[in-house]
Amino acid sequence: MASYLVTGGAGFIGSNIVEKLVIDGHKVRVVDNLATGKIENINDFINDIEFIKGDLADFIVAKRAVEKMEYIIHQAAIPSVPFSIENPIKANESMVTATVNLFKAAVESGCTKRIVQAVSAAAYGNNPKLPKQEDMLPEPVSPYAAAKLMQEYYARAFYSSYDLEIVSLRYFNVFGPKQDPKSPYSGVVSIFLSKMLRGERPTIFGDGSTSRDFVFVEDIVTANLQALLCKWTGNSEVINIGRGESISLNELVMLFNDILEVNIEPLYESERIGDIKHSIADISKAERILGFKPSESLKYGLRKLILWY
Ligand code: UD1
Repeated sequence: MASYLVTGGAGFIGSNIVEKLVIDGHKVRVVDNLATGKIENINDFINDIEFIKGDLADFIVAKRAVEKMEYIIHQAAIPSVPFSIENPIKANESMVTATVNLFKAAVESGCTKRIVQAVSAAAYGNNPKLPKQEDMLPEPVSPYAAAKLMQEYYARAFYSSYDLEIVSLRYFNVFGPKQDPKSPYSGVVSIFLSKMLRGERPTIFGDGSTSRDFVFVEDIVTANLQALLCKWTGNSEVINIGRGESISLNELVMLFNDILEVNIEPLYESERIGDIKHSIADISKAERILGFKPSESLKYGLRKLILWY
């Protein structure tokens, strides 16, 4: 039994990680300020974990959170491009300040064996090259992307300055249970599914040829655990986590029609400002370093998501 701190453990991805760790019988502590996370996400196992309500932008909270924890899974953030554009100072605090506090607290605690942190495919920005490879020059185009990239740079800096082992996972488009479809920042999979389950027509921004690499949250959970336990390469690695395949928004609607056995036509509206056209991960580095393999098919994850609704 090892001890794990999950930051942002009441959020969509964090709570899925906490659930897996509890099932596996580990000692789990969650720190979350409940800004975007929700206690309902962890209610089912709240008695099996230690919960700290607090903000990592406060160093005292960070110190308390990391105390005696061996592994740290850092998911806390305000994970939204539009929010970061409206409020770059708050976004920076929630990602950069919080992360530096967490890393510094981990150095001081002396107990931390390794940290894995969530970063984003947003780092690739509008670079049109496909698939996205980790060694491409980053092109952050939003404060959110800049902050997530800064987290990667701090990971490298803390390894070279203090020998703190930190792996950064660049998530592509994550979907799954506990992603709130009502949130204005929710992903397209949740938005489309919740509408189509009610028999409503989903709205596609653009002509539907826009494509994304949709990755199931179970795969994200697996990748995080692999990153904590894999052999240390001697570098603070940045690793893409996606399926390594993409589908268009038109195909996504067709897939839901097929699974739900309905025939709903999407509505079309003009493209969203700032959207990139295509995104697909090269996951060969994840395979090589983590032994990562995505779940059998996109349909597998979509079916599990439908069961959750
Ligand atoms: C996603 C992430 C973001 C990350 C980025 C990295 C989510 C919610 N956001 O953004 O954190 O920085 O990848 O590349 O996972 N769309 C519709 N109709 C809708 C909603 C969305 O057509 O009702 C379209 C969008 O215009 C976009 C595509 O679906 O073209 C995907 O949108 P979204 O799920 O919001 O994710 P990204 O913008 O790719």
